[in-house]
Amino acid sequence: MKLFKLASAITALMLVVPAAAAPKKIVLGFSQIGAESEWRTANTESIKAAAKEAGIELKFSDAQQKEENQLKAIRGFIAQKVDVIAFSPVVESGWETVLKEAKAAKIPVILSDRAVDVKDQSLWVSFMGSDFVEEGRRAANWLVADLDKKGVKGDVDIVELQGTVGSAPAIDRKKGFEEILAKHPNLKITRSQTGDFTRAKGKEVMEAFLKADKNIQVLFAHNDDMAIGAIQAIEDAGLKPGKDITIVSIDGVKGAFEAMIAGKLNCSVECSPLLGPQLMAAVKDLVAGKTLPKRIVTQEGVFPAEKAAEAFPSRKY
Ligand code: AHR
Repeated sequence: MKLFKLASAITALMLVVPAAAAPKKIVLGFSQIGAESEWRTANTESIKAAAKEAGIELKFSDAQQKEENQLKAIRGFIAQKVDVIAFSPVVESGWETVLKEAKAAKIPVILSDRAVDVKDQSLWVSFMGSDFVEEGRRAANWLVADLDKKGVKGDVDIVELQGTVGSAPAIDRKKGFEEILAKHPNLKITRSQTGDFTRAKGKEVMEAFLKADKNIQVLFAHNDDMAIGAIQAIEDAGLKPGKDITIVSIDGVKGAFEAMIAGKLNCSVECSPLLGPQLMAAVKDLVAGKTLPKRIVTQEGVFPAEKAAEAFPSRKY
């Protein structure tokens, strides 16, 4: 009887005291550029895995290289009232209006990987990613040292495969590379064209360069994928990539390490796509009311071909 009374009391209590509500999941809207490169695929994987690990609900949108799709996705995130918006802007310009809309809706925005060219810096809370100008400098500094080691003193013809026109990495890597070249008047960029950060375009443009110019000594590619496409074009032209033409590119993806180990690529400057964990930590901090640093720069290195075999087993992307 006593037991029955106790059970009824507990049941009555359960009816009165509401069950503690499950904590609301943080919702992050992320607009990705697309899947143009090995780097981008690794970046997407890093973001998806880190969101899962952090228990953050991720609304992921792939813009297929189109700014208009990114604008649409961001407006969709605003309409859905997500907690935080993050995106990797395909190009630098054209974001002012949508960023103002996010601010008006009180949704903080994090720039991931690439910067925007917007005057009002209050329109985003933080920009995390690489220093692209420094990457361009590192590529040029490696080249200067390599030519010096080989005793090259005369004029050197360099061709450049640029990234997506108007994108932060294409603008900044060119700037950093040229800044160093300016101190070495014998090193000249003789041809420069966009390969849109893709292997297919890198190959196509390099084929055109090779047809027009028989004196190419160096290729500077703004990313590894374009360098890998260009390697194919150089081989098809009966030349030896990495020997007849010195190649330096940026990213440090596994494909570049394989090319370096095969002796076809001479150097890859690191640009880490593994931004997921720090992005999720930043999202949690924001929701907890913390202030983020305005700029979070990724720490990166340089991998010349002679170090590739040793470093390859520990590469994560
Ligand atoms: O924004 C980073 C750049 O974008 C990477 O270097 C390139 O591979 C990618 O597509």
